Amino acid sequence: MRIHRQGTCLNVLAPAKLNLSLQVLGERPDGFHDLHTVMISVGIFDSLSFRLLPESDIHLSVSDGDLGHRHSQNSFECPNDERNLITKAARLIQSETNCSKGVSIHLQKRIPSEAGMGGGSSDAAATLVALNQLWELNLTRDRLHSLAAQLGSDLNFFLDSFPIAICTGRGEKIEPARLGRLVHFVIVKPRSGLATGEVFRLWKRLAENTRGNGNTQEAADSEGRWTESNSQVVWSSVIENSLQPAAETLNADVKSVLLNLSHESGVASGMTGSGSACFGICRNARHARRVAARLQSRGIGRVWVTTSGV
Ligand code: C5P
Repeated sequence: MRIHRQGTCLNVLAPAKLNLSLQVLGERPDGFHDLHTVMISVGIFDSLSFRLLPESDIHLSVSDGDLGHRHSQNSFECPNDERNLITKAARLIQSETNCSKGVSIHLQKRIPSEAGMGGGSSDAAATLVALNQLWELNLTRDRLHSLAAQLGSDLNFFLDSFPIAICTGRGEKIEPARLGRLVHFVIVKPRSGLATGEVFRLWKRLAENTRGNGNTQEAADSEGRWTESNSQVVWSSVIENSLQPAAETLNADVKSVLLNLSHESGVASGMTGSGSACFGICRNARHARRVAARLQSRGIGRVWVTTSGV
């Protein structure tokens, strides 16, 4: 995330993420699942501004950061109340520190919801970091990480702003990795989204049907690597996603988007998180723009061209 102070305001750019790989290793006693996932941040951002309030009020307003962009299929919908993880994060850090200050937060939403791109988690991580500064709380990174893990499984990745990391546990244990090059992505988000909990529930049912129980997936055996063949650079062994069959079953648009991506020459493609957004890794910026234009013309969803490592 990128933070800058403007008078009494803090402005934060909160990036989206993609899961280059996601292996579900099995169900845990707490009902969550153990994961091994490679997460990479990409250049699609929500913008948040935080203004100090003297009383302990927490106020959130939300606007469509893509106003002006044609929302042909996706209607803008983002809660501005207690359902939003931003409000939950602000209330948690306020109560954990007995802080009597308040904040007015404005969110300009650009990262699509129900896409598997971590928008809500990135916003909430940005809220923890920003309020730690704005309210002069001096919480350590460890303390912020512990608050982040209470709010969700994806927040921890965003806290330290690593461009790429291997995440384990529920997703909250973060090991930074190295990304030797800029990666050019095309991202497609179909009209409809997917709810993470529902995708995991179906994953479990499918796993039980195919293996007798949901806990037998092999541990992740590789951290992936870039390979080069025919001038096509691919993050080889790791573009895979255990949740893809469940997501495709719940949302036929995911299958169609992946099929369209797989027909593009020189593109390595996959689904991010629990979907419904999918991505293609392209050779370079020009290649990404050409692929995006073709996919755009087919009307299969909203299309972005972006890069890694931000
Ligand atoms: O942690 P987060 O709020 O993103 O999780 C949303 C839902 O996804 C959880 O309620 C749970 O059903 C499922 N989930 C899981 N195992 C994980 C992460 C999420 O089962 N590691």
